[in-house]
Amino acid sequence: MLVSIASFLLVWLNCLAAGAGATWHFTHDKHASQADDPGPYLPLPSWDPWYKAPEGWEAAKPGAVLKIRQHAYNMTTMAIANVRDTFQVLFRSTDSQDKATWGVTTVFLPTQARCNGSTNSSSSNCTQGILSYQLPYDTSCLDASPSYGLQWGEPYGEIAVALARGWWVSVPDFEGPLASYGANIVAGHITLDSVRAVSAAAASEFGVKSTRVALWGYSNGASATEAAVEFAAKYAPDLDIAGAAVGGLASNVGRAGPLLSQTQVAGLLVQGIIGVTSQYPDQRKYILSRLNPSGPYNATEFFWASYMSGWQSLLYFSYVDIFAYFIGGKADLEDPGLTDMFVKEGMMGKFGVPNTKVFLYQAVDDDMAPIKDTDAVVESLCDQGANILYHRNHWGGHNDELTNGRQRSFDFLGDVLDGTKVMSAPSTGCQTVNVTFMQPPGKPIV
Ligand SMILES: *[C@@H]1O[C@H](CO)[C@@H](O)[C@H](O)[C@H]1NC(C)=O
Ligand SMILES: *[C@@H]1O[C@H](CO)[C@@H](O)[C@H](O)[C@H]1NC(C)=O
Ligand SMILES: *[C@@H]1O[C@H](CO)[C@@H](O)[C@H](O)[C@H]1NC(C)=O
Ligand SMILES: *[C@@H]1O[C@H](CO)[C@@H](O)[C@H](O)[C@H]1NC(C)=O
Ligand SMILES: *[C@@H]1O[C@H](CO)[C@@H](O)[C@H](O)[C@H]1NC(C)=O
Ligand SMILES: *[C@@H]1O[C@H](CO)[C@@H](O)[C@H](O)[C@H]1NC(C)=O
Repeated sequence: MLVSIASFLLVWLNCLAAGAGATWHFTHDKHASQADDPGPYLPLPSWDPWYKAPEGWEAAKPGAVLKIRQHAYNMTTMAIANVRDTFQVLFRSTDSQDKATWGVTTVFLPTQARCNGSTNSSSSNCTQGILSYQLPYDTSCLDASPSYGLQWGEPYGEIAVALARGWWVSVPDFEGPLASYGANIVAGHITLDSVRAVSAAAASEFGVKSTRVALWGYSNGASATEAAVEFAAKYAPDLDIAGAAVGGLASNVGRAGPLLSQTQVAGLLVQGIIGVTSQYPDQRKYILSRLNPSGPYNATEFFWASYMSGWQSLLYFSYVDIFAYFIGGKADLEDPGLTDMFVKEGMMGKFGVPNTKVFLYQAVDDDMAPIKDTDAVVESLCDQGANILYHRNHWGGHNDELTNGRQRSFDFLGDVLDGTKVMSAPSTGCQTVNVTFMQPPGKPIV
C-alpha cells in the first residue's frame, strides 16, 4: 500500500516541497521562507498581496470577478505541456455557513484552442470548451493550494491532455482561503463560482462569448465536483454545465473518517478535523478544548498539520493513533456537535440532485472510499431523476482507479464538451455497468 499511496500523492505534493525549497519547515517560519526572493515564481498564497479579496468584496454577487491576474505564471519556467498562457481569477463565493467568502482559480490556455474538437477557435462564433478540474490537495495548509503548486508542474499529466484537446483548463483552489480540507459545502460553492467567474473573464478579457463547461475530480476532487453538481440547480441556476466526471468518491466521510486512525493515511483524519472546523468556530473551540495541552500527542503537534502539505502530513502521521491526541480519546470525536458537522459536510447525495450528466467511476475494492456508500448515493439520486453513467470497476483499489479511470473520463468529457460519442451517458436516467478495466501501462491517454 505504501507504494501505491506514494504514486498517488508523491509527485504532486513534492511540487510544493521542491517549489518552496529547503526553507519550508514544519515550524513554518514564514519570515525565513519568504526572505528568499521567489524569483520567477509567485509568492506563497499567505504572502501574496494579490491573493486577498479587495475592499468591499462582500457586496459582490457569488461568482462575480473581483480580480484578474493576466500571465500569472512565467512561461519560461512553465512545467506543464501544451500551455500558451495562464491567468488567475479571484471571485466572490459563499462559505459553509452561507456567509461571503472568496476563491481563486488558475486558468490554463491551450497552445491550440479548438471548437468542438476540430474547428479553430479563432472564429468569433466559437463555443470554447472549458474543463473545471478539481485537483485533490488534501491539506489544511493554504500554501499547498494548486494555484501555487502548479507552477512546478502537475501531478498526473491530465491538464496537458485536456489542453491538447483544445480546452481551457480551470483549476480552482476549492478549499478556499481557509484551506477547509473536507468541507464540501464551501468546496461545491467555490467550484460553481469559479465556473461563473471564468466564463465572465473569458468574455471580458478574451472576447469568448460562448463557453461549454464540464467538471472533473477524483478523490477529494470528486467530493468538490459532486457537491458542485448537487448544489448547481439551487445555488447556480444560471449555469448550464455539460457534464461531470466524478471518481473515487468518499460518499460518507462521517463514517469513513475515524477509520483512518492508525492507518497509513491517518494524516488525512488530522487534516480533515482541522480543515472542516475552519468553517465551524464552535466545533473548532471544542476540538481545542479536548486536545492534550502538553506532553506527548499534544495540541501544538496536532496543528503542525496545518503547516504541512498533504503528502508531508501523510508521512508525519503515518500509522499514528490520532485518538491519542484527545483527552478523552476516541469518545471525544463522537461528540454530537462534531458528528453533525461531519454528516452535514460529508454525506454525498444530500445537497440536491445533479442537473447535468454525471459519469461516476469507482473501484469495487476501493480501500479509502467504500463502494457501498457510493452505490447508495447513486441509487438515491437515480430514484430522484438524475442522469448518471456509473462504472463499478472490479480491477484495483482507490489509487489504481485514479489511473484506470483516466481514459474513460476523457472519453466522457470529450462527449459532453465536443460530442465525440466515444463513451456517452444514457440520454436520460441511469446506467450501472460492472467493468473490469486496467489501463494498459504505456498506452498514452488522449
Ligand atoms: C521569467 O523567468 C525567467 C527565467 O527565470 C526570467 O529571466 C524572466 O525575467 C521572468 N519573466 C518575468 C515576466 O518575470
Ligand atoms: C488555427 O489558426 C492558427 C492561426 O490563426 C493556425 O496557425 C493554425 O494552423 C490553425 N489550426 C487549424 C486546426 O486550423
Ligand atoms: C460562424 O460564423 C460564420 C459567419 O457568421 C458562419 O459562416 C459559420 O457557419 C459559423 N460557424 C459555425 C460553426 O457556426
Ligand atoms: C458544436 O457542437 C454543437 C452540438 O454539439 C453545435 O450546436 C455547435 O454549433 C457546434 N459549434 C461549432 C462552433 O462547431
Ligand atoms: C508538544 O509535542 C511536541 C512534539 O512532540 C513537543 O516538541 C512539544 O514540546 C510539546 N509541547 C508541550 C507543551 O508539551
Ligand atoms: C454488478 O456487480 C455486483 C456485484 O459486485 C452485482 O451485485 C450487480 O448486480 C452487478 N450489476 C450489474 C448492473 O451488472
